Amino acid sequence: MNCTKCKTKAVIGLPRHNAAFCKGCFNGFVHDQVARAIKSEKMCGKEDRILVAVSGGKDSLALWDILLKLGYRADALYVNLGIGTYSEQSHAKVTKFAEAVAAPLGATLHLHTIEQEAGAGIKELAQLIHRPTCSTCGTIKRYQFNHVAIEQHYDVMATGHNLDDEAARLLGNVLHWQEEYLDKQGPALPASVEGFAKKVKPLYRLSERELAAYAVLNRIDYIVEECPMAKGSKVLLYKEVLNRLETESPGTKQMFYWGFLEKQSKKQLTAATMTEKDRAVLHPCTSCSQPTTAEVCSYCKMMARAKTVVPR
Ligand code: AMP
Ligand code: FES
Ligand code: ZN
Repeated sequence: MNCTKCKTKAVIGLPRHNAAFCKGCFNGFVHDQVARAIKSEKMCGKEDRILVAVSGGKDSLALWDILLKLGYRADALYVNLGIGTYSEQSHAKVTKFAEAVAAPLGATLHLHTIEQEAGAGIKELAQLIHRPTCSTCGTIKRYQFNHVAIEQHYDVMATGHNLDDEAARLLGNVLHWQEEYLDKQGPALPASVEGFAKKVKPLYRLSERELAAYAVLNRIDYIVEECPMAKGSKVLLYKEVLNRLETESPGTKQMFYWGFLEKQSKKQLTAATMTEKDRAVLHPCTSCSQPTTAEVCSYCKMMARAKTVVPR
């Protein structure tokens, strides 16, 4: 198998693009997909300060690497969830990348540790406040991503969601006809109101397999294990189903998700209309000032509850 572009020996075949690439041309392909995503969705410019949420996994570390190599001003945030060895190992991978690759390029890593703030790791915290672990984790992560982005004056916040993540989420939203979520499921969410950072997903054109290959070929040391709390989750099932379809008919995931984005843009669900809707219902949380639909935001409610039940 030879590289479609330069005809030297290929290291990876991409059936959905009917192509194969050598390492150099594959890196060029990956960088080009991210550049195209950023441009077509107007995610950010070279002068913007970007905050990348990094988990220690392949996608977000690859994203940080790609943005820096494309010449963007990208710092990162790692949220330590306090999930035993999983968090210890992912924390170590993030720190290693930050020191070896990002710092020499002038980029900074911000750290937030849940245990320090709430007095317990995510699993114990969720048990004590009687909430499912993953939704507690989601609330805290979303809050911290936005909080650090706003407080440190970043122009945009980026996550490592890839084509597989977005296609699986779309499948879940369609199966349950969650129209409100469908309306908001895009690769770029504007800073709808003051206090909410703009959020982007520059990897939505790349698959999980392509990002794993990018990380391995570029010697990015990442945590291979999924979060132990995610075992048996519906998202993993949707990914499996989509992978089956992809094997039978390469390009299915891309057709499904990109097709949805095209339809969405035709519906002209513009930033302006969403902003108007959001503005009507959001106001500052009386405790932390972050926008919320209630008087006190769900994060502050959770932390207030944690204070009463977590032994100190
Ligand atoms: P997940 O929901 O685990 O698939 O993660 C989706 C994206 O959220 C990742 O690609 C990261 O950008 C971000 N992320 C997940 N976990 C963390 C974390 N502990 N700290 C910082 N960012 C994270
Ligand atoms: Fe949040 Fe696993 S519980 S990443
Ligand atoms: Zn609040």
